Amino acid sequence: MIPNIITLQKQFKAKDKDIILTSFPKSGTTWLKSLLFSILNRNQQSYDHHPLLTTNPHHLVPTLEFTIYANHKIHDLSTMRSPRLLATHIPYASLPDSIKHCPESKIVYVSRNPLDVIVSMWYFGKDHPDRNLQSNYTIEDCVDEFCRGEFVFGPYWDHVFGYWKASLERAEKVLFLKYEEMKEDTFGQAKRVAEFIHRADHWAGWSSYKAFLPVQCHNRVSFTGLPFSQEEESDGVVEQILEMCSLSKLKDLDVNKHGQVRPNVENKIYFRKGQVGDWMNHLTPSMVERVSMVTKEKLSGSGLSFKMD
Ligand code: A3P
Repeated sequence: MIPNIITLQKQFKAKDKDIILTSFPKSGTTWLKSLLFSILNRNQQSYDHHPLLTTNPHHLVPTLEFTIYANHKIHDLSTMRSPRLLATHIPYASLPDSIKHCPESKIVYVSRNPLDVIVSMWYFGKDHPDRNLQSNYTIEDCVDEFCRGEFVFGPYWDHVFGYWKASLERAEKVLFLKYEEMKEDTFGQAKRVAEFIHRADHWAGWSSYKAFLPVQCHNRVSFTGLPFSQEEESDGVVEQILEMCSLSKLKDLDVNKHGQVRPNVENKIYFRKGQVGDWMNHLTPSMVERVSMVTKEKLSGSGLSFKMD
C-alpha cells in the first residue's frame, strides 16, 4: 500500500469541486459512497435505472490507493468530470497538500466506534484472501493488533482524531460523520451531507485564509449546487435515496452478491450486518475494557467520543 500512497501523494492534484470521501476501513465507507454518489447525481437518473442497481459502490467511487494509484504509471485525472467523487483511507496528515489546501475541494469523513470497527474488520479479514491464509486469525489477534496500532492505515485513534481536529478547525472544508448517528437519523445526516457538499457560502473567514493558499485557489469560492429543496423533500427524493443506499437493498442486488471490487476481494464482503453494537456478540469484557481504556487515553480532551452501546 505504501508505494501506492506515495504515488498518490506525488501525483494527485485536487480540482474544482472535488469531494473526497475519507474513512478508516470498516467505518461505513461503502454506505457513504452510495449516499454521496446518489445525492450528487440525484437529478441525473431515474431510480429504475440507478447506477447502484448494476454497479458496486466501490466501482462508482474509486478508492485512490486501491485502484487508480495501484500501479505506478502517470495518471491524469484532470479530465474526469466535476465534481469528482473520490475516496481514500489515508490519514489526514498524509493527504496530498492540494486536497488540504485548495478551498474548492471538500472532505467528508465517516467514523465509527472502535469496537464495531474491530468486529467488522475481523469478519472482513476472515473473508479476505490475504488473511484467509492465516486460518487461525482470532478476534483476540484482531483486538491486539488494533490496540497496538498495528492496523491497516495506521492507528485508529490518530486517524479519527486527525479528521476530527480538521473538522473543528475548518468546518466548511471537512465534514465529520459518525456511523452511529447515520444509523439513528439517516434522513437528517443525508441532509447534512447534501448541505455540506453543495453549500455556496462555504468559505466563512475566507479572507483570513486566503494568504495561506496557493494563488490558483484564490477567487474560486463558489459552489453551484443546492441542498435538498422543499419540493424534493416533499416529493420523497431523500427517502428514495436512503432506500436505494440501504444495506438490505444493496446486499440483495446481484451485482453485490457476485463479482469483485478488485482482484480477489469479493463485492459481497462489504455488506454484512450493519448493526451498531454487534461487538457485544463477539468481544469479551476484558477485550472491551482494553479497547475502551486506550480510546479514553488517546481521545481524552479532544471532545470526540463514540456511542458504544
Ligand atoms: P459490519 O461488518 O458491522 O456489518 P466499510 O464500507 O467501511 O468497509 O464498512 C463496512 C461496514 O459497513 C460493514 O459493517 C457493512 O455491513 C456496513 N455497511 C455496508 N453497506 C452499508 C449500508 N448501505 N448501510 C449501512 N451499513 C453498511
